[in-house]
Amino acid sequence: DWTMGAYREEAIKRIRAQVGDGKVICALSGGVDSSVAAVLIHEAIGDQLTCVYVDHGLMRKGESAQVVGMFREHYNLPLIHADESELFLGKLEGVSDPETKRKIIGGLFIDVFERHAQEMGGADFLAQGTLYPDVIESVSFSGGPSVTIKSHHNVGGLPERMNMQLVEPLRELFKDEVRALGRELGLPPSFIGRHPFPGPGLAIRCPGEITRAKLDILREADAVYIDQIRKHGLYDDIWQAFVAILPVRTVGVMGDGRTYDYACALRAVTSVDGMTADYYPFSHEFLGETATRIINEVPGINRVTYDITSKPPGTIEWE
Ligand code: XMP
Repeated sequence: DWTMGAYREEAIKRIRAQVGDGKVICALSGGVDSSVAAVLIHEAIGDQLTCVYVDHGLMRKGESAQVVGMFREHYNLPLIHADESELFLGKLEGVSDPETKRKIIGGLFIDVFERHAQEMGGADFLAQGTLYPDVIESVSFSGGPSVTIKSHHNVGGLPERMNMQLVEPLRELFKDEVRALGRELGLPPSFIGRHPFPGPGLAIRCPGEITRAKLDILREADAVYIDQIRKHGLYDDIWQAFVAILPVRTVGVMGDGRTYDYACALRAVTSVDGMTADYYPFSHEFLGETATRIINEVPGINRVTYDITSKPPGTIEWE
């Protein structure tokens, strides 16, 4: 893509001009935006950039190893893997209110990131994968107060606290342009096409109290579900798909015995921007096959439901 090729060159020049010989730190989440920003900035200033991957223990099966592996091996990008799952899961113990979960995770994220920034001797700049729509959204709506239904966490507030300037090379781009730039930078198509994943991760797909046992069951069920979606060639038709583990156990039969295990809900939606969404019309055959696979392959789950709520009135996530 010649346009993105030119944009890439231009962006690299601007990053070099802004940063000079300063140090840049970036919170890499594994999402498309922060990944493209990190790779672009690395191309511009090399090892003046350090990325921190804050691992809150709420990622999907194999995800942290995948993300960290890709950036270290393919991009040779200086990357700290901050495994802080003990800290996050400890502080989340006994918490079931969705907004409290978000606040705890968002607060800890900032603490952990700040600690690692200090350990590496501080930085002059903070890199963020802010997109054009984020810039627009942060300008308050005229004609009335903006309504926050769910508080999304990011590293807002950090730059002032740590006395850093922002480097935001994607500020002029829309999502599809960021994807094009990512392809231009050689990020694998499977990575660029990944569904969005919320900052608080599996915490908001585990309504009620979060336990390691529930998270492990959830990770397994989610992996089977996504595998089914990929095998049926449906992944790219869907905006987001995931499993939520429900805070209820139900009775089932397995062989001659009775089981008493968790129920789960499958979610899949189509959407343009996440603001509104429709549930995905899977065939009954697909749903039946997926339920059978999850119950057979995932100990701890004995009942599978499909969520057919659209947004509004539902939200995409369960919390
Ligand atoms: P809802 O559930 O509000 O989600 O319909 C809309 C989109 O936002 C994502 N989401 C979040 N992302 N932090 C995030 O970074 C959050 O706290 C959060 N809550 C929801 C959700 O996955 C969907 O893409």
